[in-house]
Amino acid sequence: MQFAPAKRSDISPFEVMQVMAQAAECEARGDHVLHLEVGQPGTPAPRLAREAAKRAIDGQVLGYTLPLGTAALRQRLAQHYRDWYAVDLPAHRIAVTTGSSGGFLLSFLASFSAGDKVLLTDPSYPCYRNILSAIGCEVVRLPAGPETNYQPTVEMLDRVPGLAGAVIASPSNPAGTMMSPAELKDFAVACHERGIRLISDEIYHGLVFDGQADTAARYSESAVVINSFSKYFSMTGWRIGWMVVPDDLVDAVQRLAQNFFISPPGISQVAGLAALDAGEECEANRAIYGRNRQLMLERLPAMGFAKMAPANGAFYIYADVGHWTNDSKAFCSQLLDETGVAITPGLDFDPDRGHRTVRFSYCISQPEIEQALDRLADWLARRAA
Ligand SMILES: Cc1ncc(COP(=O)(O)O)c(C=O)c1O
Repeated sequence: MQFAPAKRSDISPFEVMQVMAQAAECEARGDHVLHLEVGQPGTPAPRLAREAAKRAIDGQVLGYTLPLGTAALRQRLAQHYRDWYAVDLPAHRIAVTTGSSGGFLLSFLASFSAGDKVLLTDPSYPCYRNILSAIGCEVVRLPAGPETNYQPTVEMLDRVPGLAGAVIASPSNPAGTMMSPAELKDFAVACHERGIRLISDEIYHGLVFDGQADTAARYSESAVVINSFSKYFSMTGWRIGWMVVPDDLVDAVQRLAQNFFISPPGISQVAGLAALDAGEECEANRAIYGRNRQLMLERLPAMGFAKMAPANGAFYIYADVGHWTNDSKAFCSQLLDETGVAITPGLDFDPDRGHRTVRFSYCISQPEIEQALDRLADWLARRAA
């Protein structure tokens, strides 16, 4: 008998995983590696979250919860929308998920049927296209560069006939660019009017350095908003996030969540609830990223990185390296091997043009960023000599 994986599982791996594997090899041979490849804060969950989790381990059963999360967390997240955006949402429209990744699976399955066309722009976070492909959707990728601030536009919606959905992220990964509130409003309203389901990934909200991040929930009742405790709240490993679900999808998302996951992790819901009150600690982390960003924006152009996306939010810098190489993968691999600085080739985010781009992540400590920039400057100077 011959066995083979199902065709639907034939999706791309992450290039960043190969960088991480090479970084581990470098560390095994004794190199000191500076990790600018992963989008993972170097800080732990906020103190309040860790304390709440410790108390819960000792004092609670921590069994299954309701499939869309505990009432306490859903209500607190509804409050979060009042506090951050002055948007009033009923708690029944909040669904707690296993990170935003769980939110993508649930929202894509609830929103789209096999064969549906969903618009994405390149560069973007690779899981959007990979999850959509795995569930049988037709992914339509359009390039978005500096002329549209690396973001999709209403004109792009009209370029593709028969769209069922569109996925956006503001701030985005890898470009760190944002739609202004007016652009977000126009895009969300245009999607709603055309019957296109908008999925708005707002995972980098809170990490904004220039401009204002608004929520699509303000402008569209049919938009799904995805968010997470992973980034601003520094809780990647806790696997906890949430969605704002349109009324017409609440029941579908609930049935999918029951069957796929039973419930989101109980202990992480306790920790997430406490994290929402840890604004001071999260803001202190953001201030570190802000200083790192400043350093990078000052020093990278002087080293020859002439074209970089504006990096208004998130904790990434997406830079063109086309004047040095046509093979960003080899460029990153050589940089890591010779200097211990790990960065990600753009291919994860843009399969067509990412061979000329790289992404720097700057959510580690300031001394580490300074050291990485020193090593990078030396390396580039040696290459040029
Ligand atoms: C844009 C974007 N969305 C979603 C995710 C996944 O996050 P989570 O840990 O919440 O599943 C990431 C992770 O890097 C991301 O960059």
